[in-house]
Amino acid sequence: MTIVHLKHFRPATFVALLAVCGAAAAQQPQVKERPIPQVVKKDGRYALMVDGAPYLMLGAQAHNSSGWPGMLPKVWPAIEYLHANTLEIPVYWEQIEARQGQFDFSVVDTIVTQAREHHVRLDLLWFGTWKNGSQHYMPEWMKADPARYFHLIDKNGRPADSPSPFCTASQELDIRAFTAFMRHLKAFDTQRTVIIVQVENESGTWGSVRDYSPAAQKLFDGLVPADVLKAVGKPDGAPANWQEAFGPEAEVNFHAWAVATYVGKVAAAGKAVYPLPLYANAALRDPIKPGAPGSYEAGGPTDNVISIWKVAAPAIDIESPDIYMNDSVAYLKVLELYHRDDNPLFIPETSGSASVARFFFSALGLQAIGFSPFGLDYSNTPSVPAAAPATAPAAAPGPQDQFAPTAQNYRLIGPMMRDAARLNFEGKLQAVAEETGTPSQTLHFGAWNATISYGGGRGGRAPAANTAAPTGRALVAQLAENQFLVAGYYCRVDFRPTAADKRRQFMRVDEGTYENGVFKFIRILNGDETDNGLNLRAEPIALRVSLGVY
Ligand code: DGJ
Repeated sequence: MTIVHLKHFRPATFVALLAVCGAAAAQQPQVKERPIPQVVKKDGRYALMVDGAPYLMLGAQAHNSSGWPGMLPKVWPAIEYLHANTLEIPVYWEQIEARQGQFDFSVVDTIVTQAREHHVRLDLLWFGTWKNGSQHYMPEWMKADPARYFHLIDKNGRPADSPSPFCTASQELDIRAFTAFMRHLKAFDTQRTVIIVQVENESGTWGSVRDYSPAAQKLFDGLVPADVLKAVGKPDGAPANWQEAFGPEAEVNFHAWAVATYVGKVAAAGKAVYPLPLYANAALRDPIKPGAPGSYEAGGPTDNVISIWKVAAPAIDIESPDIYMNDSVAYLKVLELYHRDDNPLFIPETSGSASVARFFFSALGLQAIGFSPFGLDYSNTPSVPAAAPATAPAAAPGPQDQFAPTAQNYRLIGPMMRDAARLNFEGKLQAVAEETGTPSQTLHFGAWNATISYGGGRGGRAPAANTAAPTGRALVAQLAENQFLVAGYYCRVDFRPTAADKRRQFMRVDEGTYENGVFKFIRILNGDETDNGLNLRAEPIALRVSLGVY
C-alpha cells in the first residue's frame, strides 16, 4: 500500500470535510455495508471483485459534459436502452472545488443516488490536473494563476497547453481534492455503487514530448531512478542518465516517469483513504507501426511505457487503452499489448460506433474485466429517442442504430454476467469476434476444438447480419469435460474432438435465455437446427451443449 501524504490538509478543511462526510453518511438509507471492490489475481488471471464475486463491467461512457444533474435525463435512458450495468461519468475538479478549499460533492451524490435508482454501478472519472493532455478541468482560480500552477515548457521555450508534471503546487491541490473526493465516497457509498475510479484522463501531453523547463532539464540530465531501470529490464546497467539509458526513447520515457509519478501520488493519497480499484487511461500510439515520440500523446500509459507507469505509480491498479480504431488487426494488437501478467485488461473507452461493438467479445476472450464504448448518451440529440429494438441500421441511422450492437451485446451477456466473469476468471471461457477476411476461428479446450464460422447466411453457411461489415461474435465456455455454454451473434459454432479417430455427436443441445443469472430452458435443438452446427443469429439466446464421440 502506498503511503498517503496528508500534510497538505489544513485542519479546518479537514474538520469541515469530516462534517460533510458525516452528514452525507447520516442521510443514507440503512443498507448493509458491502465489501470494497478490488482487483484480484489468481493463477495468472485477474478479476474485478464486486460484492465479493467476479464482475464484468458492461459499460457505457457519457459525453464529457454530461456529468451535471440537468443532463442526467439524457443519460439514463441510453444506459437503460443499452442494458449497461455500469455508467462511466466524469467528476470535474472545477465543479467540486469551484472555490479554493471548499468542496461541494452534491453533484457526485446526485449521480450516485440516481445510479442506485437505475440499478447500475459507476466508474467515476477524475477530471483533475489532466484531461486529454491539458489542464482544462482545473478550477478557474487555478487557470487564472498560470505563474503558480504552471504549464510545461515546450522545446521552443513556450508554455504548452499541458500542465507541468513538476508543478508541486498543482500536485498538492490535486492530491487534496482527490483525497477529499475519495473520503467523501467512502462515507457516502457504503453500498459500493462506485466500483472503480479513473485517476485523471489521458494524462500526458500533446505537442511536446516532455517538459523543457530548466528544472525539468536538470532532472533529465540526472540519473534514471534505479527502480525504473530495473522495471524496463536494465537491472545490471551502470547508473545512466535518461539519454544514455534510452537513446531515442529517452524523452518520452522521462515524461512518462514524470507524469506517472505525479498521478501515482494523487492515486496513492486517494487510495490511502478509500482503497477502491484505480486506473489510468491512455491515448494510444499506433499499435502496428508506432511513430516516433512526438507523433502520439507523450507521458500517458501508452504501450511502450507501461512498465515505467507500473513502477512510478504503484497505486494505479490498471493501465488501460482508449481504443478508437476500427481495423481488427490494430484493435486486437492493442488488446494483446495491454493484457499482461502485470496488468488486467480493461477497456474504459472505445469508439461507440456500431462496427466496434463486436470487439467486446475479443476483449472477453482475453479476460477483460470491463468494456465501455464512449459517448453513448443522448446529450447530443434534440430529444431522447423512443427505445427502438433496432439491430440493423435504418435508412437514416440515428443514435439507436449506432447503439444497437452494444445493446445487443449487453442484453445477451447482462443476465449471465456473473457466470461469464467467474468462468473467465477460472480460465474456462474463450471468446472471439469476426475479423475481415477470416471465415473461421478455432478455440481449443482440451479434448475439444470449437470452431466459429462466419458469413453467408444461406444453405449450409453460417448466419450473417444484413450488412457487409463483419458482425459475428461468440463466446464458448467449458462447464464440464464434455459440456459447454455457447452464446453470441451471427455465426455458427461447432465442436470437433481433438482425437483424430473420433467424431462428435450432440448428446443434447438446450436452447434458453439467461434471466437474472439463471439459465431458463426453452427447447432442445435437434435436426436442422444442429445438423450443420449451432447457428447464432440476432436473438439473445444461450445454448448448453452436451457432447459425445463415436
Ligand atoms: C478520449 C477522451 O478520453 C474522452 O474524454 C473524449 O474526449 C474522447 N477522446 C472524444 O473522442
